[in-house]
Amino acid sequence: MNVLNVAVAGLGTVGRETVRLLRARRAELKERLGAELRLVAVADRAAEREARALGLAASVVRYRDPLDMARRAEADLFVELLGGLETPKRFALEVLGRGKALVTANKRLLAHAWPEITGAARTGGARLAFEGSVAGGIPVLRALDLSFSGDRVLGIDAILNGTTNYILSRGEEGLSPEAALKEAQHLGFAEKDPSMDLSGQDAAQKLTVLAGLVTGGWLKPGSFPVAGIEPVTARDLSFARERLGMAARLVASLRFTGKPGAPAVEAAVTPTLVPLGHPLAAVRRQYNALLVHTASAGDLMFYGQGAGAGPTASAVLADVFVLARDIRGGLPAAAAAARRLILTSPDHTVSSFYLRLEVLDRPGALARIADALADAGVSIAAIHQDPVSGRRSVPVMIVTHPAERGRFERARKRIMSLASVKPSHCAMRMMA
Ligand code: HSE
Repeated sequence: MNVLNVAVAGLGTVGRETVRLLRARRAELKERLGAELRLVAVADRAAEREARALGLAASVVRYRDPLDMARRAEADLFVELLGGLETPKRFALEVLGRGKALVTANKRLLAHAWPEITGAARTGGARLAFEGSVAGGIPVLRALDLSFSGDRVLGIDAILNGTTNYILSRGEEGLSPEAALKEAQHLGFAEKDPSMDLSGQDAAQKLTVLAGLVTGGWLKPGSFPVAGIEPVTARDLSFARERLGMAARLVASLRFTGKPGAPAVEAAVTPTLVPLGHPLAAVRRQYNALLVHTASAGDLMFYGQGAGAGPTASAVLADVFVLARDIRGGLPAAAAAARRLILTSPDHTVSSFYLRLEVLDRPGALARIADALADAGVSIAAIHQDPVSGRRSVPVMIVTHPAERGRFERARKRIMSLASVKPSHCAMRMMA
């Protein structure tokens, strides 16, 4: 089978980006898969107009009704990006009932219809993947599904909602919740109705998906405590930071107990104060993160963008690829192609540098060091010399302005050859 046919339902921002990537990366995907992923159908209320705007070939069949496409399209793999609940549910059940592979990024569908959707996949012997439904571009569902197969997931503490994290972390910078929400809406990751975000319900739906993936069971929406960030004020944020050394985050937590075959779970979504040194406190703005606690591998942190067309389409396309490889068989990319790897030089990479030298306390010593940097085109941003106290050498710390690594290295070599500089020194790249 050298072609796998793909049909996409829903040409909103994520659907359009998925189609765009599918076409833009066609050659690359074909090479890695050993088969072509061919877009054969799209469904959207404005299918004709969207298809034209995307420049799709006339051979790509346009459906106005996604259910029509689910019943009739000659596709091996269907992608559901419709949004909402009832139509996506009927679409998914139809596709899975036909035994076809389904990729969806619809957390609401999965949270509310988990038993029906997974049941239909089981009955139809159909493949199902939903990486984009939780934490957008972070490839954590595949990790939870596969990477801990030899381990046990004990629990998850996660920031799963970008809007509330944006409001809380911008609040720490002094912005009001109303202004921060406006920014989040402008940036496009707050839901149309932000009450789902603010009340914790969006994070709760994602928690249901995570619990289902880890246990196979249904953590029913409404069956566990969910609280939002509405009561958190600027006063709470500043008191927590200044007096308690803590930051407020909307944390969604799962603790898995029970035995194999009889899983049990404790679940909650709640505004939580975390110490400023805690990894979740470092998650700011629209970023999401999942701290996964496991029995053998210990704690692992997954971090990235949880929403937006690019991150979500990346997850959707990864699902398409993985299911396609599952249908077709094949090797991981690293084993599939034997290639000569071209090594490029990092000498043009630009950053600031820190350089600590041990310099003999002699007239002109610093001038020669400064000359070496200047001749290489590296500019000094700061220089510090410890007071000399009868020692023959003195530590000198230099911080440069951003410079090419190659230039800095040239200067460093010349500095190390100076008679007034001792061999022991320390050079570090500085990240912005
Ligand atoms: N509204 C969600 C968020 C994005 O703010 O994280 C989609 O899941």
